[in-house]
Amino acid sequence: MRQTRTQVAIVGAGPAGLMLGHLLHLHGIDSVIVENRTQEYVIERVRAGVLEQGTVDLMREVGVGDRLEREGLRHSGVYIAFNGQRHHIDMEELTGGRAITVYGQNEVVKDLIDARVATGRPLHFDARGVAVHDIDGERPRVMFRLAEEEQELTCDFIAGCDGFHGICRPAIPLAQLQTYEREYPFAWLGILANAPPSSDELVYSLHERGFALFSMRSPRVTRLYLQCATDEDIDNWPDDRIWPELKTRLRTADGWEPIEGSITQKGITPMRSFVAEPMRYGRLFLAGDAAHIVPPTGAKGLNLAMADVWRLGSALAAHYRDGDGRGLDTYSDRGVRRTWRAQRFSWWMTSMLHRSDSTNPFDHRRQIAELDYLISSRAAMTSLAENYVGTQFD
Ligand code: FAD
Ligand code: DHB
Repeated sequence: MRQTRTQVAIVGAGPAGLMLGHLLHLHGIDSVIVENRTQEYVIERVRAGVLEQGTVDLMREVGVGDRLEREGLRHSGVYIAFNGQRHHIDMEELTGGRAITVYGQNEVVKDLIDARVATGRPLHFDARGVAVHDIDGERPRVMFRLAEEEQELTCDFIAGCDGFHGICRPAIPLAQLQTYEREYPFAWLGILANAPPSSDELVYSLHERGFALFSMRSPRVTRLYLQCATDEDIDNWPDDRIWPELKTRLRTADGWEPIEGSITQKGITPMRSFVAEPMRYGRLFLAGDAAHIVPPTGAKGLNLAMADVWRLGSALAAHYRDGDGRGLDTYSDRGVRRTWRAQRFSWWMTSMLHRSDSTNPFDHRRQIAELDYLISSRAAMTSLAENYVGTQFD
């Protein structure tokens, strides 16, 4: 068995784990990142696309923002559509200059992997049988196999950045963790298409047939989502069913609709709200989807993950630099507060914009009234804008 030692063992090379590794590197702290999937898989996984202002600022400040600067699409507003009309919300004006940037999560991951490789610090893909031990003791360990060789990594701290289905959260004794969960009676069918975006900003639409979202990845690639059933079979959605459904749900009275193109990727995403509290047990710190899941409607998941590791990186730096443990001690409480704010916003966006499973027409009328209020009240639009562009990392 190969035995190694580091200061911080990071489980998971998603956006949270990779960004944490980079932040620690900048603070001169050693880390080893252990990921159970291959590098290709991690890069190719199509997921988030909307970066909050705080995420963009962070990427720039830590020197991984060059390509984001060149290729990211800064959006100062967003459209909300219902009853055949698109309504513009000028987020930049409402928030005193904040905006979102459209840049695929896989591009973020690619940039962070390049930055990690450039530092020469360890990043192990394709690790098998990853397990954490002694998380409540002085010397926690991560065990795994690399190319059939057993590895024992001893460390001061473990960062559980291994997503919702990872092994870190389940390593915490059940009695020490409080979880809150809500499932939604619908899912999203998402596609990527080789088609130029027909709108310069995102369109969130409530239609009688259900929610639809128009987004993009580049001047040549459109990203679109449709509300569908939780048990939907992707094989029942050939391309010639997807496009008419998207157009029906998105088309507005002024003739706007998405431009069709060849579909290059299709997938179904379940919708869930989940919070685990606290985000720390002994020397194990949970960050990102390992600690919380939001439904994608508010575009908050990746951004919450970035806010977590920003806090964790600063807290670990203060610990190693000055022996100051206050950041580590408050890591969870500060994170839980931000998480619940994102949960509330994501739940609100989701329930306002999706066709509910209720057969009572009252619900649809109430949603229309909510949307009508939203687009006619500066206070309501400001509330949406503030939450959507995100508050500063703290
Ligand atoms: P993950 O990205 O899940 O990374 C965890 C990593 O850990 C993975 O690489 C995984 O392979 C690895 N891992 C798992 N188990 C183990 C193990 N046992 N050992 C080692 N490694 C392990 N968020 C937004 O902010 N904006 C959006 O616009 C947005 N849109 C979304 C659209 C869709 C369709 C989906 C599915 C999600 C979207 N999200 C969005 C959410 C966002 O993708 C996630 O919140 C984000 O990936 C969380 O990052 P993470 O690093 O915490 O977790
Ligand atoms: C995208 C994903 C989201 O969840 C969202 O709310 C907006 C855009 C996207 O993938 O582009």
